[in-house]
Amino acid sequence: MGVTGPLDVEAIRADFPILSRRVRNDKALVYLDSGATSQKPVQVLDAVREFYEQHNGAAHRGSHLLSEEGTEIYEGARAKVAAFIGAAPGEIVFTKSATESVNLVSYASTASIKPGDEILISEIEHHANLVPWQQLAQRTGATLKWFTVAPDGRLDVDPSLITERTKIVAVTGQSNVTGVIPPVGEITRLAHEAGALVLADGAQLVPHHPVDVKALDVDFLVFSGHKMLGPLGLGVLYGKRDRLEALPPFLAGGDMIEVVRMEGSTFQPPPARFETGVPPASEAAGLAAAVDYLTRLGMDNVAAHEESLTAHALDALREIRGVRVLGPDTTKDRGGAVAFEVAGIHPHDIGQVLDELGVAVRTGHHCAWPLHRALGVQSSARATFYIYNTHDEVEALADGIRYAQRFFGV
Ligand SMILES: Cc1ncc(COP(=O)(O)O)c(C=O)c1O
Repeated sequence: MGVTGPLDVEAIRADFPILSRRVRNDKALVYLDSGATSQKPVQVLDAVREFYEQHNGAAHRGSHLLSEEGTEIYEGARAKVAAFIGAAPGEIVFTKSATESVNLVSYASTASIKPGDEILISEIEHHANLVPWQQLAQRTGATLKWFTVAPDGRLDVDPSLITERTKIVAVTGQSNVTGVIPPVGEITRLAHEAGALVLADGAQLVPHHPVDVKALDVDFLVFSGHKMLGPLGLGVLYGKRDRLEALPPFLAGGDMIEVVRMEGSTFQPPPARFETGVPPASEAAGLAAAVDYLTRLGMDNVAAHEESLTAHALDALREIRGVRVLGPDTTKDRGGAVAFEVAGIHPHDIGQVLDELGVAVRTGHHCAWPLHRALGVQSSARATFYIYNTHDEVEALADGIRYAQRFFGV
């Protein structure tokens, strides 16, 4: 294998201890579920371990050396994450997940939305960027509208849905089911012309493509560290500085205050205003190492590698009779999430047979139920690719599907 494309996949795989595990009757692990959570390289594991072995103190609390070092590590991670997406450190809020980041913006927006206002989302959203907006609409009397799915699985960006009543547009940067990459820049331009704000769900975009928030011009971008080689439990909210300043606190308590009296409190400027409790500095140390790792590889190379795996998977699955890939069948404006159904076999059965062969895929509606409904399926199986996946693993997926067909006699 070695350096056969833009990435030296063999060298990358050596950094991921879990990839040498044997599973299910001594099968090699073929991990095709990075869209759910990515695996972690030793560099990230070491950073977390080193934090606990050498620096564990409560960041932004106390005046001793360990607390000081914890603060430096936590704030250093913020600066790294900011640079990774072209933002300033003061525009990065650490949350516990992409989901919490969307909830933060939607809850904190409650007071600025009135009955009759419109919130625009899309039918291809993950529930994390859908249900919070439904709830905001219910709380405020606003109307929820959405871009629908076109027959080819792409988003039908109907500009007439953006009106002077639209207050916020929330749209995914990349579908976690079909891999579709909507024209977020174009949607943002239209939204801004109408005076609306834009939140992009970057959970599947930021780990896989170069992202520059200044070029995208979105007001908010959310993503999760655990899908981009970082530890579980740390999410990111990017917000333009003035947009963050305009939002009231979401969660309250701890160090997000300025002055507390029994009668009431005043609050810190962002990002501290939105960060409650002792900061998750170990997770931040891990995420900083993850960002270093991806930066060293180069996000253009990451994207090119995944594009070649996706093209291979689309070709291989197309050749299997009875297999239908959900969404576009080319890699144009499409990332490395390949959901599919196999005629005559329930996705859970496909998942189980693949698992017996060591191939880990996700099955179900992938937290995108309306999208599945719109595509005319209840559920699907989904393979997602990342920097450590190989073309041989794509073949293992295709072989596994054929084996399942023989097994079930379809
Ligand atoms: C497109 C998309 N948005 C949001 C999320 C939610 O991420 P998290 O569970 O880390 O909050 C996911 C997770 O699968 C996702 O794929």
